[in-house]
Amino acid sequence: MEPTSQFFSINLSLLPLQRKLPIDLYINASVKGKIKFVRVFPKDDQLTENFREQLQKKYAQFYVPESQRQDYFLLLGEYKKVEEVRLVKEMAVDHLQKVFESANAQELTQQLKHSPQVVQQMGDALADKSIEELKIMIGQLSFHDFYTFDHSINVCLYSLCFYRMIYPKASKEKLMTMGVGALLHDIGKLKVATGIINKPGSLSDEEFASIQKHPEEGVQMISPLIKQLDQKINWQEVLKVISQHHENIDGTGYPAKIQGEDIHHMAKVCAFADIFDALTTKRSYNEVVSFEKALEILASLQNKKLDKKMFESIMRGMGKGLAQVHKKFEIDHKFDPSVPYRKLEIKEKASRTIKETAHKVIKTH
Ligand SMILES: [Fe+2]
Ligand SMILES: [Fe+2]
Repeated sequence: MEPTSQFFSINLSLLPLQRKLPIDLYINASVKGKIKFVRVFPKDDQLTENFREQLQKKYAQFYVPESQRQDYFLLLGEYKKVEEVRLVKEMAVDHLQKVFESANAQELTQQLKHSPQVVQQMGDALADKSIEELKIMIGQLSFHDFYTFDHSINVCLYSLCFYRMIYPKASKEKLMTMGVGALLHDIGKLKVATGIINKPGSLSDEEFASIQKHPEEGVQMISPLIKQLDQKINWQEVLKVISQHHENIDGTGYPAKIQGEDIHHMAKVCAFADIFDALTTKRSYNEVVSFEKALEILASLQNKKLDKKMFESIMRGMGKGLAQVHKKFEIDHKFDPSVPYRKLEIKEKASRTIKETAHKVIKTH
């Protein structure tokens, strides 16, 4: 295992001062390909403001050993809600970066061993948050240029919330499996050229066909590794999420064009979260829709792309009566959450096409 994988990066400004810290702090002092981490602060010592400033002047990035991830997370328990989500997101970004940058199967296996813990931290941070609160927080927390990381984490957070709403009695194992599946749902995009993944505007048939391969690519990456991974996670179900999250209820999805009950329930939940995030999270060039409009668009996709019963459970979970969702807006049936759009083709029911503009979005938020 690479020594770099034994550490995760943290934000020094967020550590509490004047109290014993349960973690060691390291810096990366690697030179010319020789990897070396040096400890700059010992566990059980107190961090003073002065010393923190000195460290920040001297070094750009700080690391904590993977073995102390849980201690670090417990330490953060004192922070407010949004800070908590921000921190778990930051840790999840760090984790996904390592997953996506693994050079070979062995490295990927090592990284995937940490995925359940990262998901657990995300689940814990969500305990008392509504989808609306979460959406607002996610809107404030888009700090990464590489969209796939942010998107994977958002889909994981939303999937965990949706899953709890649909299956309030779900076991911890099921919830964790759902979260790991959602976190890794787009891992196959690693095998698709970045130029295509990030290309705004219309894609050629060939480019779209290449994007459509990502569910199968993901399965091929993960399935040979699952024997070596944490068996509390049902990896066969994780594979279903990866392979089926673009299947539609009406059989018009991909890659297998399966429909209805043939689609795994976790893949259906992931599809909800995938579309919800694609509609509501700002990317560098797109516009986003408001929370209420996103719900109306999801409503219009019932029995087409999305499962009707699940939609109803999610609405109930949000405390919304179905009568409150008017299905006034619908989105072009070709809409695919994997494709970067400059403009979302949203129609007001049986009337004109409304081209959302960035200007409008600023006003609605
Ligand atoms: Fe996808
Ligand atoms: Fe996705």
